[in-house]
Amino acid sequence: MSAVSLSGARILVTGPTGQVAKPLSLALAKDATVFGLARFTNQAAKAELEAGGVHCITGDLVAGAFDDVPTDIDYVLNLAIAKTRSWDKDLAANVEGLGLLMSRLRNAKGLLHCSSTAVYQANGHRKFVETDPLGDNHRVPSMEAFMPTYSINKIAAEAMARYVAREHGIPTTIARLNVPYGNNGGWPWMHMEQVLAGQAIGVHVDAPSNYNLIHEDDIIASVPMLLGAASVPATIVNWGGDETSSIEEWSTYIGELVGKEATFEHSTDVLESVAVDLTRLHEITGPSTVSWRDGIRRMVEHFHSDLL
Ligand SMILES: NC(=O)c1ccc[n+]([C@@H]2O[C@H](COP(=O)([O-])OP(=O)(O)OC[C@H]3O[C@@H](n4cnc5c(N)ncnc54)[C@H](OP(=O)(O)O)[C@@H]3O)[C@@H](O)[C@H]2O)c1
Repeated sequence: MSAVSLSGARILVTGPTGQVAKPLSLALAKDATVFGLARFTNQAAKAELEAGGVHCITGDLVAGAFDDVPTDIDYVLNLAIAKTRSWDKDLAANVEGLGLLMSRLRNAKGLLHCSSTAVYQANGHRKFVETDPLGDNHRVPSMEAFMPTYSINKIAAEAMARYVAREHGIPTTIARLNVPYGNNGGWPWMHMEQVLAGQAIGVHVDAPSNYNLIHEDDIIASVPMLLGAASVPATIVNWGGDETSSIEEWSTYIGELVGKEATFEHSTDVLESVAVDLTRLHEITGPSTVSWRDGIRRMVEHFHSDLL
């Protein structure tokens, strides 16, 4: 394991107002010069970032105009994601936007491209390894309202990250994030709200719906090591917490904490299990530190301390 030192570094985070990137940007800004690039449709999040010392640069990845982004950036953390349901806009932002941005920042020492385990072709309860077949994981039978462009955009963006690594010689890590959560929300937060509202939670008929939750603390801690593993051609690694748990398990636990029973609706119109093999991640970062029960309890306490 080798970590880069981010102390005093100049870091560009794309999508800094996002669920994953906001706590990460604020943590990094304590010890580094952090620039955040987004359209800043969420002004409250922008104000929070600025109060935490993040330099906010307004820019649209679809337009691909990055004139205000300084060129002397050491590390780029690409966490922006466009999910507009327009194939044209999403490919422009997530794929072309990344390529254009990295052409401008070709002197960077490293790129951490945040991908997703949504790139894997669903395959029951397999723990996916990085070489497994890719596919349209988010294409479910009649779920038109879901995120139709997501998996294919994440695969295409990986291809662009691979390209910029080789074209510009930028050491790159493509980290396939599983299910991030914590005090800034996440999928378990949505399940918590469903439990509280008495709504049934959609789960796949091929139960249980297994994942590797990863807490924001572990995400933040792993970034210097993921950058330390960056290479040309790009390093590709799964990014999840050590324990596999299921939507059924963590929602039931949330229900126990708040005194309400979690209920489930089984169907084929929801995502299937995506649990991951973490052998490669452990070689880079070592084990995760926050157990899912602890992290979920902290999340419930953060949002609904009165109910615990
Ligand atoms: N959340 C999850 O459960 C999950 C799971 C696996 C992987 N991931 C990956 O983790 C990363 C972060 O996801 P997230 O869920 O935290 O994101 P998010 O909350 O949806 O935030 C997306 C960010 O991207 C920015 N953005 C969107 N369109 C943009 C555009 N056209 N130009 C510039 N910025 C734009 C948004 O700001 P503006 O809208 O203001 O521009 C926002 O800052 C993504 O790569 C995602 O694929 C997430």
